[in-house]
Amino acid sequence: MNRISVSIIKLGGSVITDKTSYRKIRRENLSKICNQLKNVNKPYIVIHGAGSFGHIIAEKHSIQAGFEDKNQLDGIVKIRQDMASLSQEVIDCLIENNVKAIGFQTSALAFMTGAEVEYFLNPIEKSLTLGVCPVLSGDVLFTEEGGFTIHSGDSIITHLVKHFDVKQVIFLTDVDGLFEKSDDSEEGKLVRELNYNEFKEFKVEEIQSEVIDVTGSMKGKVDEISTLLEEVEQVVIINGLIPERLGSVLKNENEVSTIIYGKKST
Ligand code: IPE
Repeated sequence: MNRISVSIIKLGGSVITDKTSYRKIRRENLSKICNQLKNVNKPYIVIHGAGSFGHIIAEKHSIQAGFEDKNQLDGIVKIRQDMASLSQEVIDCLIENNVKAIGFQTSALAFMTGAEVEYFLNPIEKSLTLGVCPVLSGDVLFTEEGGFTIHSGDSIITHLVKHFDVKQVIFLTDVDGLFEKSDDSEEGKLVRELNYNEFKEFKVEEIQSEVIDVTGSMKGKVDEISTLLEEVEQVVIINGLIPERLGSVLKNENEVSTIIYGKKST
């Protein structure tokens, strides 16, 4: 089977929303990010996180735990409503920047049975071949056993890399990349490059944060990246609060970031 070659750009919830304030969008930053995508002429998928449109209500109603009582249903309805409005903001902003973006509701394309998530990806595949940029987001997913669960944007990527030939995954986060402990300073040191084997040994320096994140912040991301590296050529982590860096990475220019090379590049 000839798999379509794509890049995936994950807009972390912390770069498009203020994670400490319910439903607050970082509008100016979102707009600058979308502007960097204006003239990109290779196929790519945009996936955005939830930030304060998802994590706060998810924690309040223990959505991650699955169905326990009927009060949680108000939580899943609210998250879906909030995520729909956040997605629309992202899509509108992309369209304003001449990106032919179409949104797909993740929870309408996927269903979980046991530990397996089954996706219906034909619409995504066809939109890519036509030259349309699919936009997906982390979501509340219905599940066979537990009723529902939170499915992060990072987990979506783990599934997409099995179906598409993903050359590059770019994570826009609120830090410059991955940090490692260094002996001579209190602060961690930014790691610029890691190959597949180095990453397996890597111990992430977790930056302490007060924000609510039901899907596991940088530690969770490192676990997902570990799986991604089996399939993709490279994963790049950049600071999405400095949107110009996205433009440079897309042009393969040297930029402040962490680049991790996949198994196929070793
Ligand atoms: C979380 O998605 C989805 C919900 C809480 C509904 P992500 O885990 O990808 O979101 P961010 O990037 O951390 O905000």
